[in-house]
Amino acid sequence: MSGTKAPEKKLLKALAGERTDGIPVWFMRQAGRYLPEYRKVRAEAGSFLDLCYSPALAEEVTLQPIRRFGFDAAILFSDILVVPDALGQKVAFKEGEGPVLEAITNEAGLAALGPVSGIRQKLAPVYETVSRLSASLPREVTLIGFAGAPWTVATYMVGGRGSADQGAAKAWAYRDPAGFQKLIDLLVEATIEHLSAQVEAGAEALQIFDTWAGSLPPLSFERFALKPAQAIRREMKARFPHVPMLGFPRGAGGSAARYFCETGMDGLSLDTGVSPLWARDELQVHGCVQGNLDPLLLVAGGDEMRAQATHILETLGAGPFIFNLGHGIVPQTPPDHVGELVSLVKDWRA
Ligand code: CP3
Repeated sequence: MSGTKAPEKKLLKALAGERTDGIPVWFMRQAGRYLPEYRKVRAEAGSFLDLCYSPALAEEVTLQPIRRFGFDAAILFSDILVVPDALGQKVAFKEGEGPVLEAITNEAGLAALGPVSGIRQKLAPVYETVSRLSASLPREVTLIGFAGAPWTVATYMVGGRGSADQGAAKAWAYRDPAGFQKLIDLLVEATIEHLSAQVEAGAEALQIFDTWAGSLPPLSFERFALKPAQAIRREMKARFPHVPMLGFPRGAGGSAARYFCETGMDGLSLDTGVSPLWARDELQVHGCVQGNLDPLLLVAGGDEMRAQATHILETLGAGPFIFNLGHGIVPQTPPDHVGELVSLVKDWRA
């Protein structure tokens, strides 16, 4: 047994800070409604959460984009909101509306949540999906597990739904920072438990999605986005030193560099607004970066998509680099454009 063997999979190599022979590529939300084969399985499953909790079906939709496009990584099909669901806050996904939860806005609401130790049993089907994938994926494909970052998950738990300004969570965080911190601390613990169970089931790399990090002002960003990510990274590294982690502090702007250095992430996922030139000089010097084509360029396709993808490759392609989008694929994306973009990345040579 050797714990120090260099990784062989392309995506793991990039996350280890190595240059790769060809740029590894996968897309956030690569499984989803833009694929007709997904819509078919989704209709059979009933609700979105039923699909997340049916291991055979969740395995199938995870594999669909791998079969069709030959991505270098498969991301577990699940959702960031399975964590509040497992803590006993009822979550529903309403057609055309997105997630709806019974809002928790104070410490009394927190007290009603179940213990973190209950997560493993409640989310057993999710971990079964991971272990099935670990057996069924092609050997060159990396299996990515994930969780929402505490702040982003909290915005849904406190707001009861998505919102443009994350106003409800901010109201609690600013009115009663110590009380809100208890929710964040609970989510740090729950996230560690959830990610650990995924690694034990076979996840080879992890990503933390902080979709709403960019709405926090600097001092709150430090407290509710950076520090929790640092605590999660530190504990996961202690438990599983060989499993790399990517952070996605969407919209963090200039704070992205501090986030990358101080959290100890192995990779930083860049949102659409980050300049590749700035990322090369200020971020890639610290480790692997991932990103960041606008998902709407993937909808449009054509010369503009090719030109902007090539600009990203030419700027960041010396590595360590993983090609991805700046946010998730949207449902109106033509699958042919995805195939064309994956080919462009795979054929690109520095
Ligand atoms: O392919 C993959 O990327 C893996 C699966 C995945 C989903 N959601 C499936 C999904 C992942 C990694 C997520 C993460 C997620 N979920 C985030 C963070 C990343 C991001 O996109 O910003 C957030 C904020 C959520 C919460 C969430 N889930 C919302 C707000 C919605 C509704 C909006 C929408 O797109 O419908 C979802 C639903 C959801 N999660 C779908 C999928 C495929 C669509 C549901 C359906 O099929 O009806």
